[in-house]
Amino acid sequence: MNAWPDTGTSAALRQKYATDLALDRDGEWLQAFADVPRHVFVPRFFTQGTDAAWHPVAWGDVGYLEAVYGDAALTTQLDEHGIPTSSSSQPSVMLTMLEALDVHDGNRVFELGTGTGYNTALLSHRLGEKRVTSVDVDPGLVAAAIGRLKQAGHSPTLAAGDGALGYPRRAPYDRIIATAGLHAIPPALLEQAAEDAVIVAPLGYGIIRAQVTAPGHATGRFLPTPAHFMTLRTPATAPDLDAVRNEEPGTTSVAPHDVLERLKFPLSLALPGYTSCTWKDDQGQVTAVGLWTADGSVASVDTTGTVRQSGPRRLWDSVEELAATFTEAEGIARDDFLLTITPTRQTITYRETGGPSWHLPTPSR
Ligand SMILES: C[S@@+](CC[C@H](N)C(=O)[O-])C[C@H]1O[C@@H](n2cnc3c(N)ncnc32)[C@H](O)[C@@H]1O
Repeated sequence: MNAWPDTGTSAALRQKYATDLALDRDGEWLQAFADVPRHVFVPRFFTQGTDAAWHPVAWGDVGYLEAVYGDAALTTQLDEHGIPTSSSSQPSVMLTMLEALDVHDGNRVFELGTGTGYNTALLSHRLGEKRVTSVDVDPGLVAAAIGRLKQAGHSPTLAAGDGALGYPRRAPYDRIIATAGLHAIPPALLEQAAEDAVIVAPLGYGIIRAQVTAPGHATGRFLPTPAHFMTLRTPATAPDLDAVRNEEPGTTSVAPHDVLERLKFPLSLALPGYTSCTWKDDQGQVTAVGLWTADGSVASVDTTGTVRQSGPRRLWDSVEELAATFTEAEGIARDDFLLTITPTRQTITYRETGGPSWHLPTPSR
Protein backbone atom coordinates (compact mmCIF):
# COMPACT_ATOMS: atom_id res chain seq x y z
CA MET A 1 0.00 0.00 0.00
CA ASN A 2 1.55 3.34 -1.08
CA ALA A 3 1.67 6.30 1.32
CA TRP A 4 1.07 8.53 -1.71
CA PRO A 5 -1.73 8.83 -4.27
CA ASP A 6 -1.17 6.82 -7.42
CA THR A 7 -3.86 6.22 -10.00
CA GLY A 8 -3.87 3.92 -12.99
CA THR A 9 -3.08 7.02 -15.05
CA SER A 10 -0.12 8.21 -12.97
CA ALA A 11 1.34 4.70 -12.78
CA ALA A 12 0.98 4.15 -16.52
CA LEU A 13 2.40 7.58 -17.36
CA ARG A 14 5.39 6.96 -15.05
CA GLN A 15 6.15 3.59 -16.67
CA LYS A 16 6.05 5.13 -20.17
CA TYR A 17 8.15 8.11 -18.97
CA ALA A 18 10.85 5.80 -17.57
CA THR A 19 10.88 3.64 -20.69
CA ASP A 20 11.09 6.70 -22.99
CA LEU A 21 13.89 8.21 -20.89
CA ALA A 22 15.94 5.04 -20.78
CA LEU A 23 15.55 4.32 -24.53
CA ASP A 24 18.97 3.65 -26.10
CA ARG A 25 20.60 3.74 -22.64
CA ASP A 26 22.00 0.83 -20.68
CA GLY A 27 18.90 0.82 -18.47
CA GLU A 28 20.67 0.91 -15.09
CA TRP A 29 18.49 3.79 -13.90
CA LEU A 30 15.25 2.62 -15.58
CA GLN A 31 13.91 0.95 -12.44
CA ALA A 32 14.56 4.02 -10.28
CA PHE A 33 12.74 6.33 -12.71
CA ALA A 34 9.90 3.77 -13.00
CA ASP A 35 9.54 3.31 -9.23
CA VAL A 36 10.10 6.78 -7.74
CA PRO A 37 6.91 8.86 -8.02
CA ARG A 38 8.00 12.28 -9.34
CA HIS A 39 4.50 13.63 -8.55
CA VAL A 40 5.10 13.14 -4.82
CA PHE A 41 8.17 15.41 -5.06
CA VAL A 42 6.48 17.91 -7.39
CA PRO A 43 2.94 18.25 -5.98
CA ARG A 44 2.77 21.68 -7.62
CA PHE A 45 4.76 23.57 -10.22
CA PHE A 46 4.49 26.93 -11.96
CA THR A 47 4.14 27.71 -15.67
CA GLN A 48 4.67 31.12 -17.19
CA GLY A 49 1.94 32.47 -19.45
CA THR A 50 2.47 34.74 -22.46
CA ASP A 51 1.77 37.65 -20.06
CA ALA A 52 4.91 36.56 -18.10
CA ALA A 53 2.75 35.85 -15.02
CA TRP A 54 3.30 32.53 -13.23
CA HIS A 55 0.39 30.11 -12.78
CA PRO A 56 0.37 27.16 -10.35
CA VAL A 57 -0.50 23.70 -11.66
CA ALA A 58 -1.26 20.91 -9.15
CA TRP A 59 -2.60 17.35 -8.89
CA GLY A 60 -6.08 17.30 -10.47
CA ASP A 61 -5.34 20.20 -12.85
CA VAL A 62 -5.48 19.56 -16.58
CA GLY A 63 -2.02 18.57 -17.85
CA TYR A 64 -0.44 18.19 -14.39
CA LEU A 65 0.41 14.48 -14.58
CA GLU A 66 1.44 14.70 -18.24
CA ALA A 67 3.92 17.50 -17.35
CA VAL A 68 5.26 15.70 -14.27
CA TYR A 69 5.81 12.55 -16.34
CA GLY A 70 7.21 14.44 -19.31
CA ASP A 71 10.79 15.44 -20.02
CA ALA A 72 10.75 19.03 -18.82
CA ALA A 73 12.28 21.01 -15.98
CA LEU A 74 9.49 22.25 -13.69
CA THR A 75 9.74 25.45 -11.66
CA THR A 76 8.67 24.62 -8.11
CA GLN A 77 9.40 27.77 -6.11
CA LEU A 78 9.41 31.53 -6.83
CA ASP A 79 10.68 34.41 -4.73
CA GLU A 80 8.65 37.54 -3.97
CA HIS A 81 9.73 39.04 -7.34
CA GLY A 82 8.59 35.99 -9.31
CA ILE A 83 12.18 34.77 -9.84
CA PRO A 84 12.47 30.95 -9.75
CA THR A 85 14.46 29.75 -6.72
CA SER A 86 14.02 25.99 -7.08
CA SER A 87 12.98 23.51 -9.73
CA SER A 88 12.82 19.84 -10.53
CA SER A 89 15.47 19.52 -13.24
CA GLN A 90 14.80 18.11 -16.72
CA PRO A 91 14.63 14.30 -16.25
CA SER A 92 16.77 13.45 -19.31
CA VAL A 93 19.50 15.79 -18.02
CA MET A 94 19.18 14.22 -14.54
CA LEU A 95 19.58 10.78 -16.12
CA THR A 96 22.64 11.94 -18.10
CA MET A 97 24.22 13.27 -14.90
CA LEU A 98 23.37 10.13 -12.89
CA GLU A 99 24.85 7.92 -15.61
CA ALA A 100 27.98 10.10 -15.70
CA LEU A 101 28.26 9.69 -11.91
CA ASP A 102 28.91 5.97 -12.57
CA VAL A 103 27.74 4.75 -9.18
CA HIS A 104 28.51 1.31 -7.81
CA ASP A 105 26.94 -0.56 -4.92
CA GLY A 106 28.32 0.72 -1.63
CA ASN A 107 29.24 4.21 -2.97
CA ARG A 108 28.62 7.15 -0.62
CA VAL A 109 27.12 10.13 -2.45
CA PHE A 110 26.94 13.82 -1.59
CA GLU A 111 24.35 15.94 -3.43
CA LEU A 112 24.48 19.74 -3.49
CA GLY A 113 20.96 21.11 -4.10
CA THR A 114 18.22 18.89 -2.62
CA GLY A 115 15.41 20.99 -4.15
CA THR A 116 12.30 18.82 -4.33
CA GLY A 117 14.18 15.72 -3.14
CA TYR A 118 13.42 13.80 -6.38
CA ASN A 119 17.07 13.27 -7.37
CA THR A 120 17.86 12.37 -3.74
CA ALA A 121 15.12 9.74 -3.96
CA LEU A 122 16.52 8.31 -7.20
CA LEU A 123 19.95 8.04 -5.57
CA SER A 124 18.45 6.47 -2.41
CA HIS A 125 16.54 3.96 -4.55
CA ARG A 126 19.74 2.94 -6.35
CA LEU A 127 22.26 3.00 -3.46
CA GLY A 128 20.19 2.82 -0.29
CA GLU A 129 19.29 5.76 1.93
CA LYS A 130 22.29 5.21 4.25
CA ARG A 131 24.66 6.08 1.42
CA VAL A 132 23.06 9.40 0.47
CA THR A 133 23.62 12.88 1.93
CA SER A 134 22.00 15.98 0.44
CA VAL A 135 22.17 19.68 1.37
CA ASP A 136 20.06 22.64 0.24
CA VAL A 137 20.53 26.25 1.26
CA ASP A 138 16.77 26.65 1.77
CA PRO A 139 15.55 25.13 5.08
CA GLY A 140 11.91 25.14 3.89
CA LEU A 141 12.82 23.01 0.88
CA VAL A 142 14.81 20.61 3.06
CA ALA A 143 11.89 20.17 5.47
CA ALA A 144 9.48 19.48 2.59
CA ALA A 145 11.94 17.07 0.94
CA ILE A 146 12.36 15.09 4.19
CA GLY A 147 8.58 14.58 4.35
CA ARG A 148 8.28 13.58 0.69
CA LEU A 149 11.24 11.22 0.84
CA LYS A 150 9.68 9.55 3.86
CA GLN A 151 6.41 9.14 1.96
CA ALA A 152 8.35 7.46 -0.83
CA GLY A 153 10.06 5.16 1.69
CA HIS A 154 13.50 6.79 2.04
CA SER A 155 15.26 8.58 4.91
CA PRO A 156 18.67 9.73 3.63
CA THR A 157 20.68 12.36 5.54
CA LEU A 158 19.41 15.84 4.66
CA ALA A 159 20.67 19.18 5.96
CA ALA A 160 20.06 22.87 5.40
CA GLY A 161 23.14 24.95 4.66
CA ASP A 162 25.56 26.07 2.00
CA GLY A 163 26.21 22.98 -0.10
CA ALA A 164 29.51 24.48 -1.27
CA LEU A 165 30.80 23.61 2.21
CA GLY A 166 29.76 19.98 1.76
CA TYR A 167 28.81 17.99 4.83
CA PRO A 168 32.07 16.97 6.54
CA ARG A 169 30.42 14.78 9.16
CA ARG A 170 29.56 12.13 6.56
CA ALA A 171 32.68 12.50 4.38
CA PRO A 172 34.50 11.05 2.52
CA TYR A 173 32.22 10.73 -0.51
CA ASP A 174 32.87 8.41 -3.44
CA ARG A 175 30.54 10.39 -5.67
CA ILE A 176 29.62 14.09 -5.58
CA ILE A 177 26.80 15.56 -7.65
CA ALA A 178 25.72 19.19 -7.78
CA THR A 179 22.33 20.15 -9.15
CA ALA A 180 22.86 23.92 -8.82
CA GLY A 181 25.15 25.72 -11.26
CA LEU A 182 28.72 26.30 -10.03
CA HIS A 183 31.41 28.74 -11.19
CA ALA A 184 34.18 26.38 -9.96
CA ILE A 185 34.34 23.16 -7.92
CA PRO A 186 34.13 24.24 -4.26
CA PRO A 187 37.37 23.38 -2.40
CA ALA A 188 35.42 21.84 0.50
CA LEU A 189 33.91 19.28 -1.86
CA LEU A 190 37.38 18.32 -3.08
CA GLU A 191 38.55 17.97 0.53
CA GLN A 192 35.60 15.69 1.28
CA ALA A 193 36.09 13.55 -1.84
CA ALA A 194 37.36 9.98 -1.42
CA GLU A 195 40.23 8.56 -3.46
CA ASP A 196 39.21 8.26 -7.15
CA ALA A 197 35.91 10.07 -6.42
CA VAL A 198 33.81 11.22 -9.37
CA ILE A 199 32.34 14.73 -9.38
CA VAL A 200 29.49 15.69 -11.74
CA ALA A 201 28.35 19.30 -11.68
CA PRO A 202 26.86 22.03 -13.84
CA LEU A 203 29.65 24.52 -14.60
CA GLY A 204 28.72 27.53 -16.70
CA TYR A 205 26.40 26.32 -19.48
CA GLY A 206 27.84 22.79 -19.40
CA ILE A 207 28.18 19.74 -17.15
CA ILE A 208 31.63 18.73 -15.97
CA ARG A 209 32.61 15.18 -15.01
CA ALA A 210 35.87 15.19 -13.12
CA GLN A 211 37.71 12.39 -11.35
CA VAL A 212 39.92 12.89 -8.33
CA THR A 213 43.49 11.86 -9.20
CA ALA A 214 45.24 12.74 -5.90
CA PRO A 215 44.23 14.75 -2.81
CA GLY A 216 43.16 18.21 -4.06
CA HIS A 217 43.68 17.21 -7.72
CA ALA A 218 41.04 16.23 -10.27
CA THR A 219 40.62 16.29 -14.01
CA GLY A 220 37.87 15.67 -16.54
CA ARG A 221 35.95 16.82 -19.58
CA PHE A 222 32.57 18.45 -20.07
CA LEU A 223 29.74 16.17 -21.20
CA PRO A 224 28.51 16.93 -24.74
CA THR A 225 25.05 17.85 -23.32
CA PRO A 226 24.13 21.55 -23.02
CA ALA A 227 22.74 22.52 -19.64
CA HIS A 228 21.47 25.49 -17.76
CA PHE A 229 20.97 25.12 -14.02
CA MET A 230 19.98 27.65 -11.39
CA THR A 231 23.26 28.94 -10.00
CA LEU A 232 24.32 28.79 -6.36
CA ARG A 233 22.53 31.46 -4.41
CA THR A 234 24.90 34.35 -3.75
CA PRO A 235 24.11 38.04 -3.18
CA ALA A 236 23.11 39.52 -6.55
CA THR A 237 24.46 42.81 -7.82
CA ALA A 238 22.03 44.72 -10.01
CA PRO A 239 23.66 46.01 -13.22
CA ASP A 240 23.94 49.75 -13.71
CA LEU A 241 22.46 49.87 -17.20
CA ASP A 242 22.05 53.66 -17.00
CA ALA A 243 25.78 54.16 -16.43
CA VAL A 244 26.66 52.14 -19.51
CA ARG A 245 24.29 54.22 -21.67
CA ASN A 246 26.47 57.28 -20.99
CA GLU A 247 29.72 55.58 -22.03
CA GLU A 248 31.54 56.55 -25.25
CA PRO A 249 30.32 54.12 -27.96
CA GLY A 250 32.62 51.75 -29.85
CA THR A 251 31.91 49.38 -32.72
CA THR A 252 31.99 45.62 -33.11
CA SER A 253 31.44 43.10 -35.88
CA VAL A 254 30.29 40.38 -33.46
CA ALA A 255 26.52 39.94 -33.62
CA PRO A 256 24.63 40.26 -30.31
CA HIS A 257 22.97 36.96 -31.18
CA ASP A 258 26.29 35.09 -30.90
CA VAL A 259 26.32 35.84 -27.17
CA LEU A 260 22.93 34.21 -26.76
CA GLU A 261 23.75 31.06 -28.71
CA ARG A 262 27.05 30.21 -30.39
CA LEU A 263 29.39 31.73 -27.78
CA LYS A 264 27.20 31.14 -24.73
CA PHE A 265 29.14 28.13 -23.38
CA PRO A 266 32.74 29.47 -23.69
CA LEU A 267 31.51 32.84 -22.41
CA SER A 268 30.20 31.12 -19.27
CA LEU A 269 33.77 29.84 -18.69
CA ALA A 270 35.52 33.11 -19.55
CA LEU A 271 33.10 35.25 -17.47
CA PRO A 272 31.90 32.88 -14.73
CA GLY A 273 28.51 33.85 -13.36
CA TYR A 274 27.78 36.47 -16.02
CA THR A 275 24.17 37.43 -16.64
CA SER A 276 22.64 38.60 -19.90
CA CYS A 277 19.47 40.37 -20.92
CA THR A 278 17.92 41.33 -24.25
CA TRP A 279 15.93 44.23 -25.63
CA LYS A 280 13.33 43.40 -28.30
CA ASP A 281 11.30 45.39 -30.84
CA ASP A 282 7.51 45.20 -31.27
CA GLN A 283 7.91 42.12 -33.48
CA GLY A 284 9.87 40.34 -30.74
CA GLN A 285 13.18 40.60 -32.61
CA VAL A 286 16.30 41.11 -30.45
CA THR A 287 17.66 44.63 -30.98
CA ALA A 288 20.33 44.69 -28.25
CA VAL A 289 22.01 42.48 -25.65
CA GLY A 290 23.32 43.44 -22.22
CA LEU A 291 25.94 41.54 -20.16
CA TRP A 292 27.08 42.06 -16.59
CA THR A 293 29.18 40.39 -13.92
CA ALA A 294 29.06 40.59 -10.12
CA ASP A 295 31.99 43.07 -9.98
CA GLY A 296 29.74 45.74 -11.58
CA SER A 297 31.12 45.46 -15.13
CA VAL A 298 28.48 46.02 -17.83
CA ALA A 299 28.47 45.87 -21.63
CA SER A 300 25.68 46.49 -24.11
CA VAL A 301 25.70 45.96 -27.87
CA ASP A 302 22.98 46.55 -30.42
CA THR A 303 22.33 45.07 -33.84
CA THR A 304 23.94 48.07 -35.58
CA GLY A 305 27.26 47.02 -33.95
CA THR A 306 27.41 49.82 -31.37
CA VAL A 307 29.05 48.73 -28.08
CA ARG A 308 29.17 50.48 -24.72
CA GLN A 309 31.14 49.20 -21.72
CA SER A 310 31.55 50.33 -18.12
CA GLY A 311 32.99 49.01 -14.87
CA PRO A 312 36.29 47.37 -13.95
CA ARG A 313 36.31 44.81 -16.79
CA ARG A 314 35.76 45.23 -20.57
CA LEU A 315 33.26 42.40 -20.97
CA TRP A 316 32.76 42.89 -24.69
CA ASP A 317 36.52 42.54 -25.25
CA SER A 318 36.17 39.00 -23.83
CA VAL A 319 33.32 38.34 -26.29
CA GLU A 320 35.48 39.57 -29.20
CA GLU A 321 38.40 37.33 -28.13
CA LEU A 322 36.08 34.32 -28.02
CA ALA A 323 34.57 35.19 -31.40
CA ALA A 324 38.10 35.26 -32.90
CA THR A 325 38.91 31.84 -31.35
CA PHE A 326 35.66 30.01 -31.98
CA THR A 327 34.95 30.61 -35.62
CA GLU A 328 33.00 27.34 -36.18
CA ALA A 329 29.52 28.20 -37.38
CA GLU A 330 28.18 24.75 -36.47
CA GLY A 331 28.69 25.18 -32.75
CA ILE A 332 31.29 24.29 -30.17
CA ALA A 333 31.75 20.74 -28.84
CA ARG A 334 31.65 20.89 -25.06
CA ASP A 335 33.67 17.70 -24.68
CA ASP A 336 36.65 19.49 -26.27
CA PHE A 337 37.00 21.42 -22.96
CA LEU A 338 39.13 19.90 -20.21
CA LEU A 339 39.08 20.91 -16.52
CA THR A 340 42.26 20.50 -14.48
CA ILE A 341 42.07 21.05 -10.72
CA THR A 342 45.06 21.50 -8.44
CA PRO A 343 44.97 22.71 -4.82
CA THR A 344 45.67 26.26 -6.02
CA ARG A 345 44.04 26.53 -9.47
CA GLN A 346 41.14 25.34 -11.57
CA THR A 347 41.87 25.71 -15.28
CA ILE A 348 39.83 25.00 -18.39
CA THR A 349 41.76 24.23 -21.56
CA TYR A 350 40.25 24.03 -25.03
CA ARG A 351 41.30 21.05 -27.15
CA GLU A 352 44.97 20.73 -26.19
CA THR A 353 47.87 22.34 -24.43
CA GLY A 354 48.50 25.65 -26.12
CA GLY A 355 44.79 26.20 -26.85
CA PRO A 356 42.88 28.97 -25.08
CA SER A 357 42.47 28.44 -21.37
CA TRP A 358 40.70 30.12 -18.47
CA HIS A 359 41.30 30.06 -14.72
CA LEU A 360 38.08 29.66 -12.77
CA PRO A 361 37.49 31.88 -9.75
CA THR A 362 38.31 29.42 -6.97
CA PRO A 363 36.67 30.44 -3.72
CA SER A 364 39.13 30.54 -0.84
CA ARG A 365 38.43 28.46 2.25
C1 LIG B 1 17.70 22.83 -9.83
S1 LIG B 1 17.34 22.88 -8.13
C2 LIG B 1 17.73 21.26 -7.56
C3 LIG B 1 16.91 20.16 -8.10
C4 LIG B 1 16.89 18.96 -7.20
N1 LIG B 1 18.08 18.16 -7.26
C5 LIG B 1 15.65 18.12 -7.44
O1 LIG B 1 15.75 16.94 -7.83
O2 LIG B 1 14.56 18.67 -7.26
C6 LIG B 1 18.70 23.78 -7.45
C7 LIG B 1 18.67 23.83 -5.95
O3 LIG B 1 19.92 24.33 -5.49
C8 LIG B 1 19.67 24.99 -4.28
N2 LIG B 1 20.83 25.82 -3.94
C9 LIG B 1 21.17 27.05 -4.42
N3 LIG B 1 22.28 27.51 -3.83
C10 LIG B 1 22.68 26.54 -2.95
C11 LIG B 1 23.76 26.42 -2.05
N4 LIG B 1 24.68 27.38 -1.92
N5 LIG B 1 23.84 25.30 -1.30
C12 LIG B 1 22.92 24.31 -1.41
N6 LIG B 1 21.87 24.38 -2.26
C13 LIG B 1 21.75 25.46 -3.02
C14 LIG B 1 18.39 25.76 -4.52
O4 LIG B 1 17.75 26.09 -3.31
C15 LIG B 1 17.61 24.77 -5.38
O5 LIG B 1 16.73 24.02 -4.59
